[in-house]
Amino acid sequence: MKRIGMGLVGPGFVGVHHIDAVRRLGFVDVVAIAASTEKSARAKADALGVPKAHGSYEQLIADPDVHVVHNTTPNFLHVPVIKAALARRKHVVSDKPLAMTANDARDLWRAAEQAGVVHAVTFNYRGNPLVQQAREMIAAGDVGPVHFIHGGYLQDWLIEATDFSWRLEPEKGGASSAVADIGSHWCDLVQHVAGQRIVEVLADLTTVIGTRMKPSGSVEAFAKGAGDRREPFTMQSEDLATLLVRFDGGAKGAVNVGQVCAGHKNDLWFEINGARASLGWRQERQNELWIGRRESASGILPKDPSLLMPGARKYAHLPGGHQEAWADAFCNVMRDIYAFIADGRTMSELRPPAFATFEDGYHAACIVDAVLESHRRGGAWTAVRERVAV
Ligand SMILES: NC(=O)c1ccc[n+]([C@@H]2O[C@H](COP(=O)([O-])OP(=O)(O)OC[C@H]3O[C@@H](n4cnc5c(N)ncnc54)[C@H](O)[C@@H]3O)[C@@H](O)[C@H]2O)c1
Repeated sequence: MKRIGMGLVGPGFVGVHHIDAVRRLGFVDVVAIAASTEKSARAKADALGVPKAHGSYEQLIADPDVHVVHNTTPNFLHVPVIKAALARRKHVVSDKPLAMTANDARDLWRAAEQAGVVHAVTFNYRGNPLVQQAREMIAAGDVGPVHFIHGGYLQDWLIEATDFSWRLEPEKGGASSAVADIGSHWCDLVQHVAGQRIVEVLADLTTVIGTRMKPSGSVEAFAKGAGDRREPFTMQSEDLATLLVRFDGGAKGAVNVGQVCAGHKNDLWFEINGARASLGWRQERQNELWIGRRESASGILPKDPSLLMPGARKYAHLPGGHQEAWADAFCNVMRDIYAFIADGRTMSELRPPAFATFEDGYHAACIVDAVLESHRRGGAWTAVRERVAV
């Protein structure tokens, strides 16, 4: 198989997992890293065993050995990095959110289509075997018509006023914080599993911690020991949200999103209720799928490949009882994207399910825009305004 060269821009918290995931595929070479300076890029490249270090994303994108550009920079850099990659007709794998506004996301989607390259957004929870099992069961009609989709995405890493991230600065993270950062994962996931799109939202956004103490230096996500020099920062975005949602297939939904909820680490969960059965999945117990029934016992389906439907089985790589986790699901997403690239496919062809595109990133950005508008209007039902053609 022809080897594929991968270059990564933004080697912070999640960038390392992009590198780890593509290395596990066996036919991808991580050839270069770009950071904000050549020194920091070299330090990261040495630590991760990557041959080339570039002091700017432009240099990495111009590198002829880089065929696929991964973008794991802070949100405000997504547009310039991706546009530069598309200008050189490189395939792009971007982390979410694709852009800070729906208009920007749409521009990137259009530019990627015009460049004729493969474009992907890492909505990585799609890569879990039991997420795919739930999706297959719903598509096969096992659950019956779906009428209710609810859940949450709660974390506690921003509970202290001294907790800080570029995510909280509107010009770096965007106008929405918790909803764009993690609520977007939940929305993508349940739409993917249920096969219904969110078309209307009603949002109640809250800023629990109104003033935070911002460190003077730059801080990578989840980094400890930010130093003692801090200045007060008035929060403008939400750290807690309740959303009601309506789906185009007729289902109603509700989700709580928050990053100030003690004891919840990465607590993404959903429950889907249909006419014949319910399905429930929790990221922190991702090897179990709850199946709820009225006429017989409810139970847990374990992540055992021999018990999964064929479409879901290929996302499980270990026998039952051998736990698979976040990084394995991430790798499944990369496998779907890179198999598509390796086969020389184009975006008009059928894609494997864990592969989310810039169109999905654009739809996620439209939901975030609608959430902000709904809140501004005092919690009014607001349509997710999506212009379909690019
Ligand atoms: N899919 C997921 O589950 C997931 C998880 C975490 C983060 N993310 C997304 O990934 C992106 C990065 O988040 P993170 O948590 O890794 O942030 P981070 O702050 O830990 O890492 C960002 C990296 O970008 C580097 N950087 C800054 N300016 C740069 C420049 N001009 N050129 C090159 N590199 C530059 C920083 O030095 C840092 O290494 C965000 O868009 C975030 O939403 C996704």
